[in-house]
Amino acid sequence: MCGIVAYIGFRPVLPVLQDGLKRLEYMGYDSSGIGLLDSGRLRIFKAPGKIRELEKKLENEEIKGNLGICHTRWATHGEPNEANAHPHLSAGGKIAVVHNGIIENYAVLKKKLLAEGISFASETDTEVVAHWIAKFYKGNLSQAVLKALEHVEGAFGIAVICEDEPDVLIGAKRGSPLVLGVGENESFLTSDVSTIVGHTQKIVYLEDNDVVTVSRAGFEVKNIRDKTVSREIQEVDNDFELVQKGDFPHFMLKEIFEQPEAIKNCIRGRLLLNDGNAKLAGLDKSLKELRSIDRIIITACGTSYYAAMVGEYLIEEWAGIPVEVEYASEFRYRNPIIGSNTLVFTISQSGETADTLAALKEAQNKGATVLSICNVVGSTIARTSNGGVYLHVGPEIGIASTKAFNAQVTVLSLIALLLGRQRRLSSVQGMEIVQAINSLPAAVEQALKLNDEILEIAKVYYKHTNFLYLGRHFHYPVAMEGALKLKEISYIHAEGYPAAEVKHGPIALIDANMPVVIVAPKDALFDKIVSNAREIKARGGKLIVVTTADSAPLDEFADHIIKVPSVNSALMPVITSIPLQLLAYHIAVLCGNDVDQPRNLTKSVMVE
Ligand code: AGP
Repeated sequence: MCGIVAYIGFRPVLPVLQDGLKRLEYMGYDSSGIGLLDSGRLRIFKAPGKIRELEKKLENEEIKGNLGICHTRWATHGEPNEANAHPHLSAGGKIAVVHNGIIENYAVLKKKLLAEGISFASETDTEVVAHWIAKFYKGNLSQAVLKALEHVEGAFGIAVICEDEPDVLIGAKRGSPLVLGVGENESFLTSDVSTIVGHTQKIVYLEDNDVVTVSRAGFEVKNIRDKTVSREIQEVDNDFELVQKGDFPHFMLKEIFEQPEAIKNCIRGRLLLNDGNAKLAGLDKSLKELRSIDRIIITACGTSYYAAMVGEYLIEEWAGIPVEVEYASEFRYRNPIIGSNTLVFTISQSGETADTLAALKEAQNKGATVLSICNVVGSTIARTSNGGVYLHVGPEIGIASTKAFNAQVTVLSLIALLLGRQRRLSSVQGMEIVQAINSLPAAVEQALKLNDEILEIAKVYYKHTNFLYLGRHFHYPVAMEGALKLKEISYIHAEGYPAAEVKHGPIALIDANMPVVIVAPKDALFDKIVSNAREIKARGGKLIVVTTADSAPLDEFADHIIKVPSVNSALMPVITSIPLQLLAYHIAVLCGNDVDQPRNLTKSVMVE
């Protein structure tokens, strides 16, 4: 997604911004740009493509200045070319703006500007903001931004500089994240706190409709009505400095292999062995309320949505509470029925996904308590929720989510256990589940040993153009997630399906060119899925089966058998997902793709 880093202080600004761009890179983008004051003159450098294209343009530049803004763009309005890259300039070239989000009424604002004779250099919605600020500029940038934003509808996080005000950096936000980092005689604005924690860990989370005026000496936050508001400075951890690929060729592979440790961190201190229960500090305040809920809605997007589906089965199985799972993008615009005993969960790795945040607010607006499962500490969703549980798996850099998925499922199993113990699970049953959750890291470790085997399977199939992924019950969401992983990074068309549904249509697709990945561990539905696998085989499909020991009769007719270790059947998604992550990874590498930053994708989708 688009990313912003801005700086005002005493250091040479260019290296600070270049470092910021590199740290934003993991989010995914298609062009980048820098705007800075060089010896008092506003200069802009932009390039489509990777950041190295921008660096080439900066190679022979000697910049003198310590105020600037930079941006990575993920195209929404207009293709990813140089003209559409940020920063955008006002007419006259004195004011530069970088922007995340979408200006919904930009067409109306643009029409007015065109009528006034202003000409446009790009197709973006952002350029309108630069011109609109200039329209109100009378020697005070902060006032001009405040006045301009009165006319702007939509979501934005912006950073603004002006050639005539070399000691001022302005930031503003509504519906898109923007944080201020406060250092000694220097400050930073960013859309992603991980980009600046190496410089300062003193952070101000700006709120919607805040406009912050930042100077070298300090900062002042005003609301949209021009009233000064107080915002607390918080200390954050500097986890992000540690993130390196190490010996791994890609972050995604590193994160796949980190999963045993990630799950250990996720469950550390949260399992009560003797009580057969889970202890989740973020839910402590809600424990009484949790006892009386009779319905749960979980809302999320993408991989987090598939984790939610596993959560649905887990909670229904262990706690007996009806659960509905809904895409956040649908939930937010429906008229969801939320009773007084309905509890809403949102799930988001990044904690910044626009649709999930909007769904959260819609649920709160209807009176629901909303608890969230997030990875990024201090993220907007985490701060907006009424409580929740962090994953504690460290930053996830690969755009294709892997360790977060399994940590989300693990946290959902803890929640299901806690809710189950308040209802129908005995302490003995609880103890068995605790042991099963505790066994996950070792089982994941075992499953990772299949890596070489899976690479060989990937070599057979990476040139295929379609895949089907099938599963039943707990493994239906796993199949969906496996297909999503393959699509995201290999660009191969893949569909996840409930295995028994295939005969209602998709079976028409099966022939010798269709690899079908079936997730079929030995569980209560094993015989059923064996029948589904036979139906595929009978039509010439190529069968790649993820199963467990004692997998006869699948061994007789599958083309490839991948045997993962067994754990409690409700927790098996954490194990069966591992080969699917590895298969997608190896196929994408064999296809020669940029695995960590696949085309068109972004780490957190901050537009709807
Ligand atoms: C996962 O591999 C995807 N990149 C994507 O589907 C992601 O899970 C989705 O955008 C939701 O993100 P979130 O968990 O940060 O809200």
